[in-house]
Amino acid sequence: MTNFQVAIDGPASAGKSTIAKILATKLNFVYVDTGAMYRTITLAAKKNGIAYNDEEKIKKLLSQTKIRFEPGTPVQRVFLNDTDVTDEIRSAEVTNNVSVVASFADVRSNLVNRQREIANSNSVIMDGRDIGTTVLPEADIKIFLVASVDERAQRRYKENVAKGITTDLETLKHEIEARDYKDSHRQISPLTQAKDAILVDTTGKSIDEVVSKIANIIENKISF
Ligand code: DC
Repeated sequence: MTNFQVAIDGPASAGKSTIAKILATKLNFVYVDTGAMYRTITLAAKKNGIAYNDEEKIKKLLSQTKIRFEPGTPVQRVFLNDTDVTDEIRSAEVTNNVSVVASFADVRSNLVNRQREIANSNSVIMDGRDIGTTVLPEADIKIFLVASVDERAQRRYKENVAKGITTDLETLKHEIEARDYKDSHRQISPLTQAKDAILVDTTGKSIDEVVSKIANIIENKISF
């Protein structure tokens, strides 16, 4: 089989990375978390004392920023120039500023190139916002994963409680809505469903249900 490409797009906290990781393990594909790449650049700006809206300085930072993934349990590890930043890129500060950094043209073209390179040499499950529309427009399967804002806020809330982080549910809901708005209204590659993407609504569905639905779609395509 030649390299196979699965694109999973959708808004924040729709379950993309959870579902994509399980599918990648099941199918023995490489999992590419493109959101983690935008988060890593955002963290690199912070570590270098660069303001999140300083497009020129962030542009210069790109060539000095190596991003690497390593398999790990329960989560894949993410490295910024050889430092493990897996937890740091999930901090509230990075989460609330990543949309600005991800809106810059040079950041997007640089990371899109890196994402395509990975997909050229591996079968991938890649999740993000613009995979089916921009990064891999010829992907074999495109899934657009959605869930209601209330359910997404609940999921984030539970994740935070499990990590010992106290957050207010309403605040989480507002943060998710704000990020959805920014991600869908930016000029370059806004979050949007590709014409040939299959819409999967995860509201009220278990992880297993969603995984088996998408695994069926993929397996049917592979055997076809
Ligand atoms: O999936 P995530 O929450 O980790 O993504 C973090 C941010 O990165 C999100 O607010 C939008 C941006 N992003 C993007 O613009 N394009 C992608 N392909 C993936 C993420």
